[in-house]
Amino acid sequence: MASNPFSLNNKTIFITGSSSGIGRATAIECSKMGANVIITGRNTDRLNDTYSQLVGKGHLKFRADLTNPDEMQQLLEFLPDLDGFVVNAGIVKLSPVKFIKTEDLDRIFQMNSIIPIMMTRDLVKFKKMKRSSSIVYTSSTAGNFNITPGNGMYSSSKAAINGFMKSAAVDLASKGIRCNSVNPALVKTPMMKLRYISEKQLKENLKKYPLGRYGTPEEVAYAIIYLLSDASAWVTGTSLLIDGGLTLT
Ligand SMILES: NC(=O)c1ccc[n+]([C@@H]2O[C@H](COP(=O)([O-])OP(=O)(O)OC[C@H]3O[C@@H](n4cnc5c(N)ncnc54)[C@H](OP(=O)(O)O)[C@@H]3O)[C@@H](O)[C@H]2O)c1
Repeated sequence: MASNPFSLNNKTIFITGSSSGIGRATAIECSKMGANVIITGRNTDRLNDTYSQLVGKGHLKFRADLTNPDEMQQLLEFLPDLDGFVVNAGIVKLSPVKFIKTEDLDRIFQMNSIIPIMMTRDLVKFKKMKRSSSIVYTSSTAGNFNITPGNGMYSSSKAAINGFMKSAAVDLASKGIRCNSVNPALVKTPMMKLRYISEKQLKENLKKYPLGRYGTPEEVAYAIIYLLSDASAWVTGTSLLIDGGLTLT
């Protein structure tokens, strides 16, 4: 039988934020594509829920709060050598410019920019990323392709990670490590509820989407699978838009 370049057979993929939303869907879909996945998140019940939905054998789970240095260290030591790293855990908080608080900004940049950068550094430094491996960052349309009111903290953290991703793509190319990002517009996950106040606003906002609906976590997972697979072997430094046409309007 002809080999499938989109397959993740025999690949070991580590996904942060896999106890919920996009990370959970990515873990499940990667397992369906033949990968051995390593999942992590803070909440044990949610993590176990993802674990119970994984297809096949050989998967691992590790509960950790990525903002806790000891737990982060234990997680890094726990990890085997990787073919893929999906840097997905993230947080959001809306605030108009004049109400931005330093502690909120610190928290958002820690989770969305600094921790992803430092994890990349450590996994490369400790030689956990194999040759021809792939790193995929979950960035966003926000800050990169469109701007919405009150979203300055989140937008700037997601623009930062795309800037880093391109730089890492150049730096790590000689090791055969590819770096890319996916950039979703609004996707139906628990995070979506934190961005908009009311159902009415969500309905109104939908009018901006030419395809007439918000995305699903699985639709982002499929794009991540492409960037993890050998089908994208000549793709590095790319910010892939997944937005139902939002940024065309
Ligand atoms: N949903 C959207 O509309 C959308 C659009 C564009 C981009 N994104 C990005 O996509 C990524 C996933 O978002 P989502 O919508 O799937 O959100 P979600 O359902 O809220 O999931 C967020 C994940 O991040 C984990 N996480 C948060 N803080 C953590 C910490 N301190 N330590 C360890 N894990 C932590 C959560 O773990 P727990 O379950 O333990 O809390 C959870 O697994 C984020 O980077 C987000 O910015 C989302």
